[in-house]
Amino acid sequence: VKRVPLIAGNWKMNFDHEQAIAFVQKLAWTLKDANHDYDEKGSEVAVFPPFTDLRPVQNLIWSDKLELVYGAQDLSEHDSGAYTGEISGQFLSALHCTYVLVGHSERRTMHNETDEILARKVAAALRHGLVPVLCVGETADDLEQHGPSAVPVAQLRAALADVTGTPDLVIAYEPVWAIGSGLAATPEQAEQVASALRSTLAELLGQEVADATRILYGGSVKSSNIASLMREPNIDGALVGGASLDVTEFASIARFQ
Ligand code: G3H
Repeated sequence: VKRVPLIAGNWKMNFDHEQAIAFVQKLAWTLKDANHDYDEKGSEVAVFPPFTDLRPVQNLIWSDKLELVYGAQDLSEHDSGAYTGEISGQFLSALHCTYVLVGHSERRTMHNETDEILARKVAAALRHGLVPVLCVGETADDLEQHGPSAVPVAQLRAALADVTGTPDLVIAYEPVWAIGSGLAATPEQAEQVASALRSTLAELLGQEVADATRILYGGSVKSSNIASLMREPNIDGALVGGASLDVTEFASIARFQ
């Protein structure tokens, strides 16, 4: 089964709108300059800027016809109303975001996002035509107590509890112990969990959805480890944090092949 690889840069809370424009411009140049075949390789490169950068990033990508897509880092489970500080999927859809991250471990831990909330956020994303990039992953304690796949698989089941049909989804497997630690999972470790996640998708939504869904690995991805991760059959791309803030490094990751 052929799936289009996705290399996604999660900027987290970095870059104001001017830095965002400068970065995206430079990223597009770097990808083009360094590799004339870039457009033909068929992999997709996405940036996930803070909400306040989405409009300028959209304008730049559209006006310069850049081969990049973009998404938001979170969305509200609600569509509109008295929810001060929240951002609706409706607004993200109006900005033509392709993707939205759901359940990043920083949101699960620092913003107390439970499996129930995340199931509603997945539903909200799908309702507004956004592709949810559902993040799952175990802590070091979980790994010790339950082994590698139990917690990510349980998080996947919970987040997809109300999903039916053939949704367009992306799953990002991000072991919490690997995020920002400099210690990435080995390709074998990442593949083991990715394969368990794909089997779970097949069980929940059917083989067709399981085959079509891209599963990314995230957690200390760098230009030096991307190629070996991408060789694994169930890893279809990467969700990159720290290294996505350095144009040269992120462009190298995007050209993993
Ligand atoms: O969303 C990205 C992940 O949190 C990975 O971050 O590449 O800095 O480890 P990192």
